[in-house]
Amino acid sequence: MTGAKKPIPTRVIIGITGASGSVYGVCAIRVLLKMGVEVHLIVSETGEKVLRYECGIGADQIGEGVKRHDVSDLFSPVASGTYPVASMAIVPCSMNTLGMLANGLAPNLLLRCADVTLKECRPLVIVPREAPLNASHLENMLRLARMGARIVPLAPAFYHRPTSLRELIAPTVARIVSMLGVTGLRAPVWTGGVQVGTQEDEDAVGQLRDVLRAHDASVPGWGSYPDPALAPGQDQRPKVSDYRDFVLDLIGAVVESLCPNDH
Ligand SMILES: Cc1cc2nc3c(=O)[nH]c(=O)nc-3n(C[C@H](O)[C@H](O)[C@H](O)COP(=O)(O)O)c2cc1C
Repeated sequence: MTGAKKPIPTRVIIGITGASGSVYGVCAIRVLLKMGVEVHLIVSETGEKVLRYECGIGADQIGEGVKRHDVSDLFSPVASGTYPVASMAIVPCSMNTLGMLANGLAPNLLLRCADVTLKECRPLVIVPREAPLNASHLENMLRLARMGARIVPLAPAFYHRPTSLRELIAPTVARIVSMLGVTGLRAPVWTGGVQVGTQEDEDAVGQLRDVLRAHDASVPGWGSYPDPALAPGQDQRPKVSDYRDFVLDLIGAVVESLCPNDH
């Protein structure tokens, strides 16, 4: 579990921009919905195109019950600091949006909401994706961190020894959703590590695996979800035409593995 029981936030804003990695945004939104959070969604123009390209779905198919707002609608109620929202995340965040936000520019609703979140001192989680990073990207991240934003780069960890895309993606999704104030997710917890090399190390790794397995067993459902079957292309990779189904199965598996059974 990622924390003690606290009331979960009732309303959050999620922005999706044109950086690669929209699958993380979709997973985060579906976890939030499943945990009973009201999700307000703003997708940038390029965000919509990249989402369709990478996940094969439109913004209107991200999740049932999502409240969508047009990125150009600066008259939307969410544009005001008076609108009660607990927190906001931009997943993924392009260097374009990052740069504008870091410099106080808010020409669209996504940027306006992020700017409002900062001025109202509410949690703002920024999930940037770019590689390599130039000095301006790094300076903009530093500026935003100093303004109070949490920067969660899309840089998956391997210390939990992932063996699938689901295991690679789920911990980052859990971190993002937890930072928005949601507790009670099923996510692996680091319990200490070992080096690999000598027989002694190998034994220690074996013990670590036992610890992780015991942890998985103690958290109902975690680790027991089958990874999405490869699409019926029958070779090791999904066919281009099956890729959408592959991604949707992956998203479903990430969400199921993170949300407790009673949600
Ligand atoms: C397929 C694709 C992938 C992209 N990936 C990234 C990325 O990972 N990071 C990034 O900063 N920009 C990326 N871009 C470029 C942004 O989409 C572009 O800078 C755009 O102006 C961002 O606009 P937005 O901030 O309004 O969404 C990508 C574009 C495409 C078409």
